[in-house]
Formats: sequence, C-alpha cells, structure tokens
Amino acid sequence: MSLLDLININLSYGKEYSSQILRNVNVSIERSELVAIMGPSGAGKSSLLYVMSGLETPNSGKVIFNGNDITALSSDKQADLRINNFGFIYQFFNLIPILTAEENIVLPLKIANKNVNDYTQKIDKIIEDVGLTDKRHLKPSQLSGGQQQRVAIARALINNPKIIFADEPTGSLDRKNSVEIMQLLTKLSKCNNTAVVMVTHNPELCKYTTRVINMIDGQVK
Ligand SMILES: Nc1ncnc2c1ncn2[C@@H]1O[C@H](COP(=O)(O)OP(=O)(O)OP(=O)(O)O)[C@@H](O)[C@H]1O
Ligand SMILES: [Mg+2]
Repeated sequence: MSLLDLININLSYGKEYSSQILRNVNVSIERSELVAIMGPSGAGKSSLLYVMSGLETPNSGKVIFNGNDITALSSDKQADLRINNFGFIYQFFNLIPILTAEENIVLPLKIANKNVNDYTQKIDKIIEDVGLTDKRHLKPSQLSGGQQQRVAIARALINNPKIIFADEPTGSLDRKNSVEIMQLLTKLSKCNNTAVVMVTHNPELCKYTTRVINMIDGQVK
C-alpha cells in the first residue's frame, strides 16, 4: 500500500464547473519518497498539491492516505489528520510575523494540543538541525529569506509528519540559498523518514528528488 494514492481525480472551478483544472489524475506517493511536480504555469501543480493534502476537495475521485479515504472524512477529521500527518512549506514562508522563530516552529504542536513542555529537547534539536540556535528569539522580519525558510522547514517537521507538501519552497530564494534549503530539506526528510512532494520550476533541484511528476494542462504526463 502506498502512503498516498490519488485515484481518478477531477477538479473543476467556475459556473457549472466550466473550467476543468485536474483531469483524471492518478498518482501514488510512496513512503520516504522525494517527488518534484513540474510543469508550466497554470498546469495545475498547486491545485494537485491542495487535493493531495485535503485542502481542496475534488469533484470526483478518491484521495487515500495510509489506507483511509480522506475525501470521505468530515472537515474536523480532515484537519486532525492534516495537523498530525502533514507538514507544509510555502514559497513566501507564511510565518506569523508577531511570533519569534521558535514560537512559529512550536505552533503545530500547540494546534495538535500537545504539551510543549514535553518537547523541549525535540524543539532544541530541530532548531539546531536547521542552524538557527542563535536566531531562535528573533521575529521573521529580523531574519533573511533563507533563514525564514529554515524556520518553515522546522515548523513543517515538528509534528513528525509522514509527508511534507512544499509549493515552490525555493521560489523566492537566490541560487545559493535554494541549494542550501534543498540540501537541508533532503537531509532532514531522510532522517525523519518523511516523504516530500514539492512543486518547483527549477530543473536544477530535480537532482535531489527520487522522481519527477510532469503536469501539462491538468494531466499527469
Ligand atoms: N479558486 C480557483 N478558482 C478558479 N480557478 C482557479 C482557482 N484556483 C486555480 N484556478 C485555476 O486553475 C489553473 C491551475 O492553477 P494552479 O495554481 O494549480 O497552477 P500552477 O501549475 O500551480 O501554476 P504556477 O506555476 O503559476 O503556480 C489556473 O488556470 C488557475 O487560474
Ligand atoms: Mg502554483
């Protein structure tokens, strides 16, 4: 059984579903895989990521995570499943500006109703892993882009997710930082046994992945 299976997914928006975004998509993600989704702008890459992670409900088809059909769950159950099993990394980091780096990283533990005091060692370790020990009390505005994305990586990993969804995680970083962030993400996902599904426009990053999914016009090619 795969970690995640998308079966015959169709997604449409608009009046009477006039614009079809995903067309009969079938994709499986295996445990610990690092997959890149590539394709032209508007091909449906972000939409595919939203469907995979339960943030968007398809018009037809099933999304099976660990043997459970997540499209059949209530929205509360879906939210529980997401916070306990999925991590998210975005192009523009999406950190909370009034919280410090450490407080941002700890947020998913709080959302999952975990007692943060039980996790001090783990928090210290992950902050060290992403190289931010001396920056942990700074706010996002006091950090560089590469450092902010390191906070986001730590935040994505803090709940030991089975899978991380990353939408153009290096899209707003320069070349040097992009490579560093990819190396860090690859290393930490391996150590934590976490699969990564990453949308990217950068073919250079594909050398870090185990597989590339090509999307064109709402279809997986
Ligand atoms: N909420 C929405 N309502 C209507 N159309 C939408 C919506 N979200 C996305 N679309 C359309 O779906 C298509 C695919 O969008 P998507 O964001 O998945 O593309 P993408 O491959 O991620 O592109 P990019 O590389 O530019 O990020 C686009 O034509 C877009 O306009
Ligand atoms: Mg996109």
